Amino acid sequence: MTIIAPSILSADFSKLGEDVQSAEKAGGDWIHIDVMDGHFVPNMTFGPIVIQSIRSYTKLPFDVHLMIERPEQYLEAFARAGADRITVHAEACVHLHRVVHQIKELGLPAGVALNPGTPLSAVEPVLDDLDLVLLMTVNPGFGGQKFIPQSVNRLRQLRGILQERGLSHMHVQVDGGINAETAPLVRDAGANVLVAGNYVYGAADRSSAVASLR
Ligand code: DX5
Ligand code: ZN
Repeated sequence: MTIIAPSILSADFSKLGEDVQSAEKAGGDWIHIDVMDGHFVPNMTFGPIVIQSIRSYTKLPFDVHLMIERPEQYLEAFARAGADRITVHAEACVHLHRVVHQIKELGLPAGVALNPGTPLSAVEPVLDDLDLVLLMTVNPGFGGQKFIPQSVNRLRQLRGILQERGLSHMHVQVDGGINAETAPLVRDAGANVLVAGNYVYGAADRSSAVASLR
């Protein structure tokens, strides 16, 4: 079963609560929340206060993708704001193993994200502790970018590693440039959680958009 996670980065920020509800009504499974700090990525979005303010608008899990430096300083705040799972970037963590365990100590499933230019080996030492690996299929920072085709090979390689390690149950998430054309490619290569921002929020019929990704 493919999990679809609409990304509110492409929502209308002036009516975020309503747009979160709209993703649920359209059949989304998780709400993907992109936190950007203007340092790790060249863009800024929102923090725990905004997440807390939209928490009551849906019962869907909040999938919080931290594109920030020093994520360890903010994990507790995001957990308190209503995050149901937290993903940090391997490139942003000097002490990745410690950060992963800090997320787990907060009682949340932990994910690690890799930029397109980061070797898969960066996540291998912590694989056993993870619930999810996120392979970025664009360089993070903005919605509406073009899918990087080499991502398909990386997904296959990751699936191979997971199988070898007896971790086939792990969620493999993709994020960036996912639409009806790229979804079958990433699903065939082993992704089971598909994030989609522009494709879902830009669609006239959001339900059909979500359905077309499964
Ligand atoms: C990119 C973000 C994505 C973004 C994807 O830095 O992490 O979650 O919302 O947007 P689309 O689906 O429009 O490429
Ligand atoms: Zn994201």
